[in-house]
Amino acid sequence: MSLISSIFSSIRVPTVKELKKNIIPEHVAIIMDGNGRWAVKRKLPRSAGHKAGVEALREVITACVQLGIKFLTVYSFSSENWQRPKDEVNFLLNLFLESLKEELGALNKNGVRVFLIGDRKLIPYKILEAFENAEKQTANNTKLFFSIAFNYGSRQEIVDAARKIHKAAERNDIDIEKLDEKTFSDYLFTKECPDPDFLIRTSGEYRVSNFLLWQIAYCEFYFVKTLWPDFKRKNFLKAIYYYQQRSRRFGRL
Ligand code: FPP
Repeated sequence: MSLISSIFSSIRVPTVKELKKNIIPEHVAIIMDGNGRWAVKRKLPRSAGHKAGVEALREVITACVQLGIKFLTVYSFSSENWQRPKDEVNFLLNLFLESLKEELGALNKNGVRVFLIGDRKLIPYKILEAFENAEKQTANNTKLFFSIAFNYGSRQEIVDAARKIHKAAERNDIDIEKLDEKTFSDYLFTKECPDPDFLIRTSGEYRVSNFLLWQIAYCEFYFVKTLWPDFKRKNFLKAIYYYQQRSRRFGRL
């Protein structure tokens, strides 16, 4: 173990009370990576890793509500993930269907509002219906705005926004000369959310994989070796502790 990683792992997990209430990120984004490797390590099928990943997500959502985090965005299925083996894609689609149904009660109880970000046109009808049903059933919840990136790709999102802006300009709905960053953001899937303050990626990969490229301009990054199914409440609290040590300057001194 290197010196840096041994210092990292030696830090005691803070309790919710020990975290500074005034430095809680408003918006946390997560790339939940490592489900497959978690399963392979245990000689289980990759599907078992995805199933265990839902457990981890449940713990993190609950912790977000407890900490007063207002927005959580997770990368659950990228527009590139359709290229995975058919069996794995089908398993994942069924897992989304089941999880959305099974978790609805708990999400409502915790005041969580579900929102889908991604290209809805290319999502199979049954899946889209389940997402839209969850959105409808949770629409009045205000504790946590939980965005699920599904069939999502950030470059496509930006190109799509440019196309919509062009159309709006043709209709004279906007003056292209006055187009600014705020107006541009209003054409993204994430228009309802502030930019993420903190991006977590699990599994020891150090990349952003076409996730929220526009939105993470001033985000703090946290890359951790833990595989997603092992990233539980205590790992999340530790991540927030590290966030609280950062000095955010947004380009200023
Ligand atoms: C990445 O691990 C994980 C995924 C592609 C799927 C994540 C989905 C869930 C945890 C289910 C979420 C459910 C809802 C309802 C939001 P990987 O397969 O890329 O792992 P590997 O890199 O080890 O192969």
